[in-house]
Amino acid sequence: MKGIILAGGAGTRLYPASLPISKILLPIYDKPMIYYPLSVLMQAGVNDILIITNPEDDTNFKKLLGNGSQWGLRLSYKIQYEKRGIADAFLLGEDFIGQDGCVLILGDNVFYGADLEQRLLQATQNRQGAHVFAYEVPDPQRFGVVAFDGQGKAFSLEEKPQTPKSNFAVTGLYFYDHQVVSYAKSLRPSARGELEITDLNKLYLQQGQLHVHRLPQDFVWLDTGTHESVFAASEFVKTYQESHHLQIACLEEIAVQKNFITASKLKECAAAWPANSYYNYIRENVLN
Ligand code: G1P
Repeated sequence: MKGIILAGGAGTRLYPASLPISKILLPIYDKPMIYYPLSVLMQAGVNDILIITNPEDDTNFKKLLGNGSQWGLRLSYKIQYEKRGIADAFLLGEDFIGQDGCVLILGDNVFYGADLEQRLLQATQNRQGAHVFAYEVPDPQRFGVVAFDGQGKAFSLEEKPQTPKSNFAVTGLYFYDHQVVSYAKSLRPSARGELEITDLNKLYLQQGQLHVHRLPQDFVWLDTGTHESVFAASEFVKTYQESHHLQIACLEEIAVQKNFITASKLKECAAAWPANSYYNYIRENVLN
């Protein structure tokens, strides 16, 4: 299965902080925002990943992540020149995806839960249709919203509805089978001129091929598109890491756990790491 991180967009809600640099490169506590979605794809076992950026930030992403070989990944890059919507990722990624299935994650989505990996693996094992995650929120108007019937089956999807039919937001993590590129090609731009991810999911829903996985309330999901949510995410990461003595989204640790790279290979990079809490954690917990 291939992976795509959508890291384009102007991020105007975070201006002026995101004026000189993509919001996806701004920190969530002690790591750049993109570490979090990248760690989710890695936990799903995906190591062949396309990063879609805006033209101004392409070189910054490459400076940060390179070709991914330091984590045993294969990273490639594609520029999105126009703001054409989330589902445009599958048109930009057509050659990259080929005949494979594909998981897309939005660059500003943070997921954390003890059983995250199991949930992800379940989604990757689902070879047919689409698999998305729903999470109950107090402000569903801000999101794609999924409503369920009495049997708990999804029956409607709406993008940022004024009167939502439920409080369940569709999170920015989407697993699709090999049909995704042809479905994306059949989409037409919405009133705001974008190829909507919700319209793509509706095509799967209409075919009876949309699996909606509800995340429990003790799970953490944050869309870090506003100053408040960036701050809340940073606070969560700091508090959780300090109280549990672990690192969230430590790419080196996940790379070794997933056998993308061996600890001895990783050790070769260690000489270049500065002495700070992130790298000291790896030295003490991953290389030892
Ligand atoms: C996008 C999607 C929306 C989804 C959300 C999740 O909204 O359009 O359906 O619920 O991501 O983060 P955006 O954050 O781009 O406004």
